[in-house]
Amino acid sequence: MVVAAVVGAQWGDEGKGKIVDLLAEKADVTVRFNGGDNAGHTVKFQDKTYKLHQMPSGAFYPGKKVIIGCGCVVNPKTLLEEIGIISNDGYAPNLIIDSRAHVVLPYHIALDGMEESKKGSRAAGTTKKGIGPCYSDKAARFGIRFADMLDKKILEEKIHTMHEIKTKTIEQVYGQKFAQGEDDVFEAYSGYADELAKYVADGCAAVNDAVNAKKNVLLEGAQGALLGIDQGLYPYGTSSNPTSGGASTGSGLAPNKLNEVIGIVKAYVSRVGSGPLPTELMDGTAQKIRDKGGEYGTTTGRPRRIGWLDVVALKYAHETNGFTGLAFTRIDTFAGVSPVKFCVAYELDGKKTTRMPVSAEELARCKPIYEEMPGWKDLKPAEWRRICVRGYFAVPDEPKNYMKRVSEYLGVPIYIVSVGPGREDTIVIKDVFAK
Ligand code: IMP
Repeated sequence: MVVAAVVGAQWGDEGKGKIVDLLAEKADVTVRFNGGDNAGHTVKFQDKTYKLHQMPSGAFYPGKKVIIGCGCVVNPKTLLEEIGIISNDGYAPNLIIDSRAHVVLPYHIALDGMEESKKGSRAAGTTKKGIGPCYSDKAARFGIRFADMLDKKILEEKIHTMHEIKTKTIEQVYGQKFAQGEDDVFEAYSGYADELAKYVADGCAAVNDAVNAKKNVLLEGAQGALLGIDQGLYPYGTSSNPTSGGASTGSGLAPNKLNEVIGIVKAYVSRVGSGPLPTELMDGTAQKIRDKGGEYGTTTGRPRRIGWLDVVALKYAHETNGFTGLAFTRIDTFAGVSPVKFCVAYELDGKKTTRMPVSAEELARCKPIYEEMPGWKDLKPAEWRRICVRGYFAVPDEPKNYMKRVSEYLGVPIYIVSVGPGREDTIVIKDVFAK
């Protein structure tokens, strides 16, 4: 029995969806532990591409249990659409939505944009899916959980309180009007409750039962460690903990139940939204990578900012997450760039540091200090696939040396290498669920 968490080691979009889909084959249960439909996890197999936002990426193995954990905030409308799409393709999910998970309401979505405009230059560039306002209400204990939504009396009372506070805020603070009436919101959410009721249960109990029964459990993070509310670059991140700590609190499994924490490392960095990114590339290389890798936000379609790999940030992510293994992704996308650089230290106000500063203002003043290595040749997808069939030894020396160098810097072994979007474009060096 193994409990493995998959965590984005950078700013999200590292390719977690693909890795989770791959690992989920041998997991009995997959739990998504943070975030909501701000996430976009791309899963590609049998010539089909699915862009999942809330459904755990392990949903494509019929019969296996998938759980939306207590650490998530869920938009019931988009979840129902997602269930519909994958069910129509023959993947009706064996889904549990933890009754503790919070529900995203139309007020949250409306306020997300308004709060962002008010913040001016300190806006995070959110996905405008209502994630921050929903987590705010959760912390303030105004929130509506799935358990509350199923009880129509509680739902009505809670919407009544929330409607008054939110409509007044929208009108009096932001000078705008909230279009929906209280009854409209209640009717809509009462309908979602009826449709989703069959999935709502105690997710924490389910995942603990699975561990007690010696099953393999996969904990799937959304976003990336550096966007986390506690350890991320505040205020330019998201409102949840996309970390190994979040994997525990967001699933209901005690921290000492986690055996493996796999950090997903993209060969370069990308970021959507605002905030300093010391290694950002502003030249043609960024556009080349963006075009080649389709580096546009899965949820919002925004072009992703692109930069050289940042080992200082990765070391911080490792320090705060305790990676036991790394999965390198996008080795194929990064091919054709030579030489490749990666940042090993910053110069901050004339001093060299290998520690990521706490404040965004300081990070914005950091000048990256790079190491350089020869890049690698661009190969056709079929050539990468042939390498995958042969195994890690067949990977050309340049990408192997690059990954090895980064792995040595962190002191964390390489478990997986991904050289394309499909399941077959992968080399597994250590299979975490192997008997
Ligand atoms: P929010 O999560 O929508 O509140 O957005 C907060 C910040 O996190 C913004 O910079 C978003 O672009 C970023 N973000 C949210 N979800 C993702 C994701 O799945 N991948 C990458 N960035 C994300």
